[in-house]
Amino acid sequence: MTQDELKQLVAREALKHVVEDSVVGVGSGSTVNLFIDALAGIKGRIEGAVAASEASAERLKRHGIRVFELNSVDEIPVYVDGADEITEHLHMIKGGGGALTREKIVAAVAQKFVCICDASKFVPVLGRFPLPVEVIPMARSYVGRALLRLGGQPVLREDFKTDNGNLILDCHGLSIADPPALEAELNNLAGVVTNGLFARRSADVLLLGSEQGVRTQKRGG
Ligand code: A5P
Repeated sequence: MTQDELKQLVAREALKHVVEDSVVGVGSGSTVNLFIDALAGIKGRIEGAVAASEASAERLKRHGIRVFELNSVDEIPVYVDGADEITEHLHMIKGGGGALTREKIVAAVAQKFVCICDASKFVPVLGRFPLPVEVIPMARSYVGRALLRLGGQPVLREDFKTDNGNLILDCHGLSIADPPALEAELNNLAGVVTNGLFARRSADVLLLGSEQGVRTQKRGG
């Protein structure tokens, strides 16, 4: 199977987690795009969606799925999103597409985070994928120096602005032995809006696509 076929597989599997008549949380990225396309097939059975990026919102609307503002929604039973890396503890690196802040906000509201990935994303330790850090533009150099002190090599993402008007520093070479601790440490740097570690609010369920089919792993399971 190709990587796209594996993504297709987990995107369809995620439909089983969607709660009828609810507002579905929808992340972003190429795997989520396939989930959105699959969701269109059951759009009559959901109230609508909250999107974690402008791109996902546009795609949902093109399929005729109602998109709600997060502030107008009381609860999101399920949030479906991809990851750039994920461990057996369901800690993740996200933000390859730059939508990490909105993804983290929607994930925080959701009762259940369902992560959909192909097997290439499953890693023993996080950090080979450069960790995205969203920064307020005036803090770029300050945060960059702090990341250097932590042992990383920050690289400014060229010609890129987040949906919130900020910059991304992609931090290479960090050794992420304790993801929840590093997530908190980075969040404490002045000027950091969000970092791409999703460890303090990890996924609850992982749907991992491989040649053997979809493996479902639950947090703590
Ligand atoms: C977007 O900002 C990311 O967090 C995505 O969830 C992540 O990059 C996975 O994307 P793909 O499904 O395209 O690999």
